[in-house]
Amino acid sequence: MLCSVVILAAGQGKRMQSKKSKVLHTLANRSFIEHVTLTAQQLNPNKLIVIHGHLGEQVQEALSSYKITWAEQMPPQGTGHAVQQALPHLAETGVTVILYGDVPLITLDTLKKMVEKAEKNSLVLLTEIMNDPTGYGRVLRNNQNNVIGIIEHKDATEEQRKIAEVNTGMMAVPTTWLHKYLPYLNNNNVQKEYYLTDLIKMVVDEGNSVDTLFPQYSWEVTGVNDRLQQAELEREYQKYQAENLMRLGVSLRDPSRFDLRGSLECDQDVEIDVNCIFEGSVKLGANVKIGPYCFIRNAEIAANTCIEPYSHIDGAKIGENGKIGPFSRLRPGTILAEHVHVGNFVELKNSQVDAYSKANHLSYLGDASIGKRVNIGAGTITCNYDGVNKHKTIIEDDVFIGSSTQLVAPLTLKKGVTVAAGTTVWKDVHDENALILNVKEQRSRLSWLRPCKSEGK
Ligand code: UD1
Ligand code: CA
Repeated sequence: MLCSVVILAAGQGKRMQSKKSKVLHTLANRSFIEHVTLTAQQLNPNKLIVIHGHLGEQVQEALSSYKITWAEQMPPQGTGHAVQQALPHLAETGVTVILYGDVPLITLDTLKKMVEKAEKNSLVLLTEIMNDPTGYGRVLRNNQNNVIGIIEHKDATEEQRKIAEVNTGMMAVPTTWLHKYLPYLNNNNVQKEYYLTDLIKMVVDEGNSVDTLFPQYSWEVTGVNDRLQQAELEREYQKYQAENLMRLGVSLRDPSRFDLRGSLECDQDVEIDVNCIFEGSVKLGANVKIGPYCFIRNAEIAANTCIEPYSHIDGAKIGENGKIGPFSRLRPGTILAEHVHVGNFVELKNSQVDAYSKANHLSYLGDASIGKRVNIGAGTITCNYDGVNKHKTIIEDDVFIGSSTQLVAPLTLKKGVTVAAGTTVWKDVHDENALILNVKEQRSRLSWLRPCKSEGK
């Protein structure tokens, strides 16, 4: 059946205290409205309409990569008035799902259930029981427990305010009813707004059916109005993601100190210590161990590799049985084969390292291609940048680089070459197994006196 989605996003959102549109604030690194849009897209709607108003250009720009029909509501005069702006874009048949741009975490499961029920010619309200329903529209029912309307908090009597079942705002409606009834909304209420919720009574009064549904999780219907609510919802979402991963067999040392801002795929027996952040798309192979305080973005880490504490990994691919960190930094374009060791204060950028090679301490390896079984001594620097261009360093298999070495790119070191400690290498070495060193002199000055402090200091 034909399905359309309308996302309301024309409200002001003053309580965020921001120059940015409320719906562009984020949860797990993704804007509220993008969460809603991505979920709504999975319903395969024939149209996805966003009602924009205040700071609408910002929202349009942020969602420019999505296929959206935009409808402007200026000035906003209530939720009913908002949906009226969508009417010219809605087909005559099928079901329309109404969502809020500031209620980011509605799930596809719940939406599917709503649509299924609505397709049986029923208006389906997503409702929720709340301990403190203050501020929300209350669901009115008759003696047979059938829904007969919604009364907004501000318009409700003391008796009605005791009702704990509230309107979450989200609903699925046979589209014909929107065309039929919405033009007749009025604003005879305390707020002088056109209430979408008045639709319910109109539908019921003509003998049509209204159903309700509870969401599976309460966070699905939680809206964000200020930064405190934003942080609270972020925590709830993180807890949910952490619990899902644990159910799938991932060990989290402390699920309350775990952040996933994207997707994380794990093979069996992965262990993640506290305070790690995962962003973008991350894949971890079997038995991978992530130490505490690691930041990992857009990375693939193969089986049995261990990431020691405080490592920063971004855009890297790491082979099996590797050992990275503590305090390693792998930047985009880093590709490590199996059994590679990268130690503390080693930075790699756009560099490939083949199997069994090691860079254990204090190095910068940029735009380098490093062979098998290479040893990179402490303090090795690839001088890859001449101030304008970046140049490549090629280090073949079995090269040994002594400590405190500068490799001035472009540079090639042939197989088996040894570079003595403290050498600056600025010419290609074509002889396999050669020893490379700079001619320097070491002197001793016997007459030299070390300065000494005067007494009392
Ligand atoms: C609305 C419902 C109320 C429900 C509550 C749940 C109505 C009349 N009331 O309350 O029953 O309990 O949501 O949160 O529908 N918006 C527009 N244009 C407007 C007004 C609002 O696009 O003219 C958008 C807002 O950006 C927001 C959503 O609609 O995303 C809800 O608006 P808000 O003012 O928060 O809801 P209420 O009207 O207070
Ligand atoms: Ca309002």
